[in-house]
Amino acid sequence: PSNHPMIDGRTAQSPLVRAFAGHRPADPSTRPVWFMRQAGRSLPEYRATRAGVAMLDACLTPELASEITLQPVRRHGVDAGILFSDIVVPLRLAGVAVEIVPGRGPVFDHPVRTAADVAALPPLDPGALAPVEEAVRLTVAELGSTPLLGFAGAPFTLASYLVEGGPSKDQLAARTLMHADPATWRALMDWCADVTGAFLRAQVLAGTSAVQLFDSWAGALSLADYTAHAAPASRRALSHVADLGVPVVHFGTGTGELLGAMREVGADVVGVDHRLPLDEANRRLGGTTVLQGNVDPAYLAAPWEVLAAHVRDVVERGGSAPAHVLNLGHGVPPTTDPDVLTRVVALAHGHEPA
Ligand code: CP3
Repeated sequence: PSNHPMIDGRTAQSPLVRAFAGHRPADPSTRPVWFMRQAGRSLPEYRATRAGVAMLDACLTPELASEITLQPVRRHGVDAGILFSDIVVPLRLAGVAVEIVPGRGPVFDHPVRTAADVAALPPLDPGALAPVEEAVRLTVAELGSTPLLGFAGAPFTLASYLVEGGPSKDQLAARTLMHADPATWRALMDWCADVTGAFLRAQVLAGTSAVQLFDSWAGALSLADYTAHAAPASRRALSHVADLGVPVVHFGTGTGELLGAMREVGADVVGVDHRLPLDEANRRLGGTTVLQGNVDPAYLAAPWEVLAAHVRDVVERGGSAPAHVLNLGHGVPPTTDPDVLTRVVALAHGHEPA
């Protein structure tokens, strides 16, 4: 049972929401598929809309964010929209100085490294989330019975960017802080958890039918470190939406050893990257958990028959789980031919000759 108007209402019978609840589709035309980073540089209409607008400004302009969210739904016929935003948007709204540098990612003016740095992090005023809520409202009004996913970055991935001051290969500075000064680490993670929790809650209350927590870099951690130093904050983040009754997807890359622990923080669905076949992921989760994934983005530029065989293999392996939502193992590469994505959707829905 859900306390949430959109789940109880127009998206409740959608293929995505049905699959997230553990139902297998009776026929392939209702097999749900969407793509992480489906909105973005692979689409010419996105590049046109974004021309001359900084990434975070686009995220915080409701009409632009909504239009960009809708573009891949119109073009590909995917079974969900995902709000056009970024994991650093709530940090910016809290007053943290961050820019998204094209081709690089989020870059911060002041890395957070000490107890004093953490103590100086400003609280997020819930009123600051108004542009995000407006973008969600505009988008769900257009989407009708197609669900909109909200999302946020998990505390570990956010804290990694804050400590490193930008993208990093191995999250070494963040992992060092975790062990060198566990109290400061814990305070930073709790701050990230509450910012992420508020961001998720605002999206759900404005009308998203489900949310995905991105812990993109969790695979940098051992199971012991994940359990001790990351999972408690992810649980705290998800506790902000636990009363709303919407399904929660939890995704990371390189997380083959962490799948069970990632479910335990409060996820209904586990997102798997391309490194682990879905039947093996299902085995590791005891056959009880809905899975999402895991077409290797590298195949998107391979000859169609090679890609199609890979997609069929993913669908077959996903068939071992209680239910499966087809997706990529990570985001759409910017160089992807959008027609290929449209064709993958058609194949998943059974409209493409075998
Ligand atoms: O999936 C979607 O379509 C929704 C939009 C979305 C974006 N970022 C838009 C975006 C989502 C879900 C994210 C999440 C996000 N952002 C994550 C977690 C998912 C993942 O990919 O692991 C992370 C780690 C970030 C941080 C971030 N933002 C990175 C690493 C980058 C790439 C930098 C680059 O230019 O290569 C961004 C920028 C970003 N976020 C873009 C988009 C469409 C590209 C910026 C542009 O178009 O100018």
